[in-house]
Amino acid sequence: MPFPSSFIAELKSRNPIETVISRYVDLKRAGSNLVGLCPFHSERTPSFTVFSDNFHCFGCSAGGDVITFIMKMENLEYRDAIQFLADKCGMTVPADDYTGYGKPKSALTREKCFEMNKIAARVFYSNLNSLDGAAARSYLDERKISAATRIHFGLGYALNSFDNLTDILVSKGFTPQEISENFLCGISKKTGKPFDMFRNRIMFPIIDISGNIVAFGGRVLDDSKPKYLNSSDTTVFKKSRNLFALNFAKNVIIGDKNDEKNTVKSYAKPGEMILCEGYMDVISMHQAGFGNAVATLGTAITSEHARIISRFAKTVYLAYDSDEAGQAATKRAIRMLTEVGIDAKVIKISGAKDPDEYIKKFGPASFSNIIEASEGQIDYKLNEILNKYDMNISEQKYKAMTEACGIIAAIRTELKRDIYVERLSQLTGVKQETIYSEIKRAYRNEEKKFKRKNSELLQSSILRYDDRINTEAAANYNAAAVESRIIGILLMYPELLNGKTPLSEDDFITTFNKKLFSNIKKLFETGETDITPLNEIYTPDEFAYIMNMKFARMPLSSNGTDALNEQIALLKKIKSESDDKEETDFAGTIEKIKKEKLNKQQ
Ligand code: GTP
Ligand code: MN
Repeated sequence: MPFPSSFIAELKSRNPIETVISRYVDLKRAGSNLVGLCPFHSERTPSFTVFSDNFHCFGCSAGGDVITFIMKMENLEYRDAIQFLADKCGMTVPADDYTGYGKPKSALTREKCFEMNKIAARVFYSNLNSLDGAAARSYLDERKISAATRIHFGLGYALNSFDNLTDILVSKGFTPQEISENFLCGISKKTGKPFDMFRNRIMFPIIDISGNIVAFGGRVLDDSKPKYLNSSDTTVFKKSRNLFALNFAKNVIIGDKNDEKNTVKSYAKPGEMILCEGYMDVISMHQAGFGNAVATLGTAITSEHARIISRFAKTVYLAYDSDEAGQAATKRAIRMLTEVGIDAKVIKISGAKDPDEYIKKFGPASFSNIIEASEGQIDYKLNEILNKYDMNISEQKYKAMTEACGIIAAIRTELKRDIYVERLSQLTGVKQETIYSEIKRAYRNEEKKFKRKNSELLQSSILRYDDRINTEAAANYNAAAVESRIIGILLMYPELLNGKTPLSEDDFITTFNKKLFSNIKKLFETGETDITPLNEIYTPDEFAYIMNMKFARMPLSSNGTDALNEQIALLKKIKSESDDKEETDFAGTIEKIKKEKLNKQQ
């Protein structure tokens, strides 16, 4: 059985949506709504809105109720999100003998993953300190990683064996299927037998901010390939959100040093973070007194990373490798971080390829000096432009000035803008007034671009030709639109769906809406009118999409029985026509719209 609706209702009333969301988003009142910067995409002006029992983002279309929010924000399944909220308010989740309705519960719970990882980390740790760990220990010695640091990070060693860890986990009751879902073993295609995923590697446990081990990275001891092997995404680990050592760094950054048993001098300042590329960089830095360093895990920084970072740090120093790839990554990171309001600065590492090497060569004090000397993002970008062009050639100088003014136009504080106008004028000899008028023009262009982008987004979401959720909507445009209207009305007035409603699953044309209608019908038949339980069947994005059908109807005045019957009749008509009509005409039109849109963008 699903959870009793009284339980869900109490859970929701004890976890008011605005209170829950305020823990993650800075909400401000705007009329009867609350608005803030959307935590699910990068933006500068708030389009994330909280109203009545729901949230909705006008920028990225995320939306849903408080349970959807926690599912999306904490990356939890429905039942885990319910547990999460129940824990927050001291409620007990009713025992569930749940079968039938919705997805079957996955056998591999988060708790099981954490438990498995904890056991694995202990195995790796004791391997490192066993006879078989001699080579790994001398590798770490060579890289000057102290005994205290090894303990602090829980470093370990995966034996050069195909069954060491898997056998232990199986003996503790985990099935090979579960172990492989958690990326600790693979299953041989030939023999069907499990084998240890990590072999003969130094192991780095990856720990989330609640202190659970969520994944591992493993490094070879020599030059073999691949140098690093990282866990793939699992139930508890998402590369695009997790950061290595954030569990330690967050306490240092928010200025709570209780956690730090480090005796070395700390160079970290509250509110500041250092972002680098590799595990070894982070470990070296923490050992040298930069406990505020974190790294992305073998991937480029994502907007999700940026958003998570912004919860802790105001300023981020980028300490990427000095090679070309590192510089490209730096640019991307500046963009991502700036979008969430972080002040990004670039540390210039010269004489070494990465922070780890730099600290070993020149020492922590020197690294602290290059942090102090790091360039703000604007200086960094302006220098880059001025170096790219030959300022003695008028045409090139003109291009450089246009680009530079574009950068300054994006600065939001007037004082800062003035400072950079003055500086650009000094550097180039162009009059300040000229720079100001160019900036005004660039600013207006930016505004226009922004508005155009928004209106295109809105149109495409109405036109549905890039509908990723109802993938049949493009080819069945009219039908999908009518279906959404019907569902929207039913979500507003559940009582309109009863034995007398001349509508059945078979009237629907697109599979997604057909299934959705049938789920809603089943739900309403239980007497439920709140669609929260659909969170169990649908992903947060799908749930938002469903809610949006309702929101799209709300501003309209005709929403009662007549409107519903009219739409039902329309749907039946489309259905009877579509049985003998070729659909290709429509697909052709969609193709045309897509092409036109592409041309416009170029
Ligand atoms: P060393 O100092 O050589 O131990 O490594 P590093 O930590 O300096 O790493 P490097 O700069 O070579 O790479 C940066 C990060 O990219 C690493 O920490 C890994 O997370 C990731 N990475 C590097 N090589 C590989 C690889 O072969 N496969 C995968 N998946 N990730 C890698
Ligand atoms: Mn390195």
